Order: sequence, then C-alpha cells, then structure tokens
Amino acid sequence: MANGVPQIQYYEHELDIRRVIEQSDLQSLDRALNICDLSSLERKLRLWHKLLPRIKPHYAVKCNDDPVVVKFMADLGTGFDCASKNELKMVLGFGVSPERIIFAHPCRPVSHLKFAKEQKVVNGTVDNEYEVYKLLKHYPSSNLILRFKSEAKKALCPLGDKYGCDAEADAPALMLLAKALDLKVTGTSFHVGSGCSEHEAYDRALEKAENIFKVGELIGHDMDLLDIGGGFPGNDDAMFEKIAENVNTAVELRFPDERIRIISEPGRFFMAAACTLVCKIHAKREIRNKAGRIDTLMYYINDGIYGFLASTFYFPVVVTPETYLDEDEPLPKFKSVIWGPSCDGQDRISEELFLPNLNRGDLIGFRNVGAYTKPLAKPFNGFDVPETRFFRAKSL
Ligand SMILES: Cc1ncc(COP(=O)(O)O)c(C=O)c1O
Repeated sequence: MANGVPQIQYYEHELDIRRVIEQSDLQSLDRALNICDLSSLERKLRLWHKLLPRIKPHYAVKCNDDPVVVKFMADLGTGFDCASKNELKMVLGFGVSPERIIFAHPCRPVSHLKFAKEQKVVNGTVDNEYEVYKLLKHYPSSNLILRFKSEAKKALCPLGDKYGCDAEADAPALMLLAKALDLKVTGTSFHVGSGCSEHEAYDRALEKAENIFKVGELIGHDMDLLDIGGGFPGNDDAMFEKIAENVNTAVELRFPDERIRIISEPGRFFMAAACTLVCKIHAKREIRNKAGRIDTLMYYINDGIYGFLASTFYFPVVVTPETYLDEDEPLPKFKSVIWGPSCDGQDRISEELFLPNLNRGDLIGFRNVGAYTKPLAKPFNGFDVPETRFFRAKSL
C-alpha cells in the first residue's frame, strides 16, 4: 500500500495461489486474504471481443466496485453500467467520458438524475410511466432506453419481478406517452437474470427487442441503441460460448443494420473468476454420534456470509473449498461443515462436505469469489472484511 493506493504485484505466466500464500505470512493475519488477479479481467475482455465482436461491454460497477478494479476497467477502455450517483461519481472520477456510461437503473432518486444531467450522462433506462414523468420534469433531454422484462428459465438471481415493463402490453404505451411528452426513446434493454444458465434466453429477449424497435420507429422515435444487459456466466466459458453463439445468430437475424449500436452490462462475467479467497481456521469442533464416534468436523474460519462469501447466502452459489496441505498421499476425508466467524447461526458457508482432517491455523481457499462479494461485505460482529491484494501478469 503506497499513499493509501494498493500496489499491484506482477507475476510470470500464471498466478500461483500457493506461492502467494507462502509469501503472505497468513498466520499473523487475522483477516482473510482476497487475491485479485487483474489479468483475469484482461483475458475475459479478449474473450468477449473474440466471441461477441459487435457488442460493447459496459462493466456493471455494482458487481465489484473496488476502485482498483473500476480504474483497471476504465484503463482497458470498456464502457460502464452505473446504477447510482456514487457509482457515476467513481467512474467519471477515473476520467471516463459520459458517453461511455449507461445509467442503467429504471427507478432512480431525483438527486441522482440531476447529477446525471449535470455530468451529461445522457443514456438511462426507464420501465414505467412515473419514471417517464420524472424524466420529463428533471432530465427531458436524456435518451430513454426502455427496459422490458424477459427472464431466463434458470438464473442465480432473477430480476424480472422487480424491473422491466411487459414488452407487448406496456412498451408501446410507454413509447407513445414519451412521444406525446416530446421525450426521446432511443433504444431498449433487458436483463435475463444474473448468472443465467439458459443460453436460449437471449434469443427470446432479442425477438421482443426487435418488436420494440419496430413499434418505436413506427411511433416516430429514432431507435439506435440495443442493450442486452448482463447475465453472462463468470466461470463457465463453455456456457458463455453457447450464449455468444445464440446472441450472434439472433443479432444477425434481427438487427442486421450495423448503425444500431449494441451494448451489454456484464458484471459477473468479468469479476467472478478474478478472485480467490484464502481463509484461516481459528476454531474447530467435533460432533459425535451416540456411540461416541466422530460424525462431523466443524470448522470456523475468518470470513463468512457477511464478508466475501455473501453469495453463498444471497444466491444459491455452492462454493468448493480447497486446502493447501503439503501431504503427497491422498488423505482420508471426513464429513465437515464450514462456518463463518460471526455469532449468527445462518453464517454457514457450506453444507456437509468431505475434507481432510484440518487443524487450527490451516487454510481453506475459495475460487471464483470476485462477483457480488466485496460490495456486500460488512464487518458484522466486529470481524474485519478480507484484505484484497492485486496481481497482474507481466505479459498476457
Ligand atoms: C441492470 C443490471 N445490469 C447489469 C447487471 C449485471 O449483471 P451480471 O453480473 O449478471 O452480468 C445487473 C445485476 O444485477 C443489473 O441489475
């Protein structure tokens, strides 16, 4: 850390988590260690450009708002999806021009809208008539991007109950209302749900988007922005490939006009695989059966659902812990449960799983914890949130 700015440490080829652990003296650290590999973001961006060349990613800041991450993405040249005044402030503060930002929240406080107007962040989503009237009063020169609902059948975090108008029943009426009020609808957006595992979901949504474009043009709006939202998996490149294929085919068929700009709002895609959390066991209990034999081993570690493992509680994410024992031979495994450090009985990180017999001071790691972890982490019960250290490859 120099002048409060975390240092980035450079590595050759591949980031070796065991090596980082060896060099980190974790025994003297009370806090868990979050190891963030910034080069993972660069690799993801390359993969994105390769598989979805027509679609410009706008990184969803909500997914991980660590200033080091946000600045890194800004330097890589992505666009941004901001949902609040503070997210806008952070991104603009890193020198990102307002045209690179979409204010992708359909229900915003007036003060946030006023800030967007002052800063000339002109593109924003909207999904209901109250918000249309709010824009008429507070930001009538903005571009309205109509968000409609189109859910995947399977997603870790569905969003359709909360946001998005009905593409058939509501969208035409909202576009007519905007026209009557002399407001501009310039595009449409959707979000299939975060952590989508149904690749056909995008095709269904793009069919609805095509209809909205057609109706919008008929009403007299100049439609030129399609926003396909987020939902892309962060640690399943095979599923991402299938989604990309589905999106490319649908886009070619439904939006062949290259003048239409297509953007997206990926968060999890970039962040999930970038971070590995290394926790230390500080307490252990044995649960015995009636015969007095050990039934389950319980471990208490220095981070949990109020920290970087929040996603195990909020989303049905199953974490697969790894251990860093030095044995050459495979060790016998025991039924085990891992708990977070707080006094809350819900602060349970794993269901029953099988692990070697671990001891106080041993380390347990969790990969793929970069998405929706840092912004949710709180020092509940007085337990510190993990410390993050940043790493980057010398060359990709
Ligand atoms: C409007 C909006 N855009 C983008 C995202 C990011 O989604 P994901 O992390 O699934 O890519 C979210 C997540 O909730 C969202 O609500």
